[in-house]
Parts: sequence; C-alpha cells; structure tokens
Amino acid sequence: MIRKKLIAGNWKMNKTSSDAVALVSEIVAAVGRATDVDVVVCPPFTSLESVFKVIDGSTVKLGAQNLHPEASGAYTGETSAAMLRALFASYVIVGHSERRTYFAESDTFINQKVLAALKAQLKPILCVGETLGERESGSTLKVVQTQLEGALEGVSKDLATSVVLAYEPVWAIGTGKVATTEQAQEVHAFIRGLLTKLFGAATSGKMRILYGGSMKPANAAELLAQKDIDGGLIGGASLESRSFVDLVKAAAAAK
Ligand code: 13P
Repeated sequence: MIRKKLIAGNWKMNKTSSDAVALVSEIVAAVGRATDVDVVVCPPFTSLESVFKVIDGSTVKLGAQNLHPEASGAYTGETSAAMLRALFASYVIVGHSERRTYFAESDTFINQKVLAALKAQLKPILCVGETLGERESGSTLKVVQTQLEGALEGVSKDLATSVVLAYEPVWAIGTGKVATTEQAQEVHAFIRGLLTKLFGAATSGKMRILYGGSMKPANAAELLAQKDIDGGLIGGASLESRSFVDLVKAAAAAK
C-alpha cells in the first residue's frame, strides 16, 4: 500500500493543558512507537506546547486546529503558521465544518489558509463535506467539488502530496450517525478523481483521504477497509485514550 494510514484526533475545544497531558501520555504509552500508522493529535492552541513535550521522541505528531493566513499583524486572537511551526506542529486542520458554520469561513479564506500552511511546511488536513439538506437534495458531490477546488486553488503538484483530505459529512459529525461504507467510499473515490484531474494520477495516488464523522472502534474496520479511505479524523472518540488507541490499532490491521 503506497498510502500509509493516518489517524488524527481533533480534540476541538476540549481539555485543559493538564487534561491534555494526561490524555496524550496514555496515547504515547500505547502507540508512541507505531510506525505502520501515522498518528496525529490536534489539541487546542493552549495545549500545543505541553502536548509536544510528551510526544517529543515518539512517533506521534502534533497538529493544530486552525491558523490565520497572514504571517503576522493586527489580527487579535489569531495564530500564524510560523507560530505553530515554532511549537513543533506538523499538521493543521483547515476548513472544518464547525469553522465554516460558526465562523463563516469561505472557500477563498480556506484556500488562503491552505497556501499559508504549505508555505510554512505545515501539512493541511483539509475538511470537506455536505450537510444533511445537501445530501437529501442530491448535491453532495457538487458541494464537495466546489469546496475542494476552491480550497486547493494555486496548490502546486509538488506540494499537493503534503495535503491530507478529510471527508466529513456534516450530518455525521458528533451525531452518532456514521456514513455507510458505500456512502463514504463513493465520495472518497470522487475526491480521488478530482485530485487526479488537478494533480495527475501519480500524485493523487499518494494523497491521503481521511473519513470523519462518528468514527469509532466499532465501525472503523469496515470503513478503513475501503479502497480510498486512508484513515480517520476523529472527534469524540479521540478524547479517551482507549477508543483512540483502538482506532490506531484498527488502522494498523486494515493495512
Ligand atoms: P466526531 O468523531 O465527534 O463525529 O467528530 C468528527 C470531527 O468533526 C472530526 O474533525
């Protein structure tokens, strides 16, 4: 398999710094030497530094949940790519549906973030996905295409392999309603096709497409066995070490 599976935990707005250290310590103890799966934890900004101290020397990598596209300046409350790099983040989540919805982030703004992340050698985890209404009206693929093409505008073929995609159907996030394997694989294959059009087959074949939305140890094996599902972006089940570690093990077994 040319694409190594990736399991990323999006902790969202959960865990104080000391809670974060406790959680990541358990993760490192269980899978801190895993080499057959890439493991990434994305704590809130306030815990990036303390979490890195725990994962340093292990194979677990650090991700942030957001960034601002500008390098510096008068953007109260925001964080630049360089600031994240200085805290040893390797990944950054971009375009999550919660940011699109609650913070009105547009595809243009998300595109600026993707470009800023890549420029700073941060790997963007770019999230796309449809709402329930969009799925029911039959516009899932159109929505995903618009989001993906908008966000990847101007990304060179060389840098494209540093981008991780995440298909997160909005109706499956935090709801316990997971997409069926057929629904997920259909969209993943569609995304692979779009990436092939943008970057060519050799590059798109190397790019990872994660599934996100109520992924749990109980449903992971089936999803991860799909041809174009290369890992998971995990919300709720990443907040407890046991379920997160079980997901990493499921990814290792799915190879
Ligand atoms: P849940 O796993 O809680 O559904 O969240 C998924 C998600 O939004 C990850 O970014």
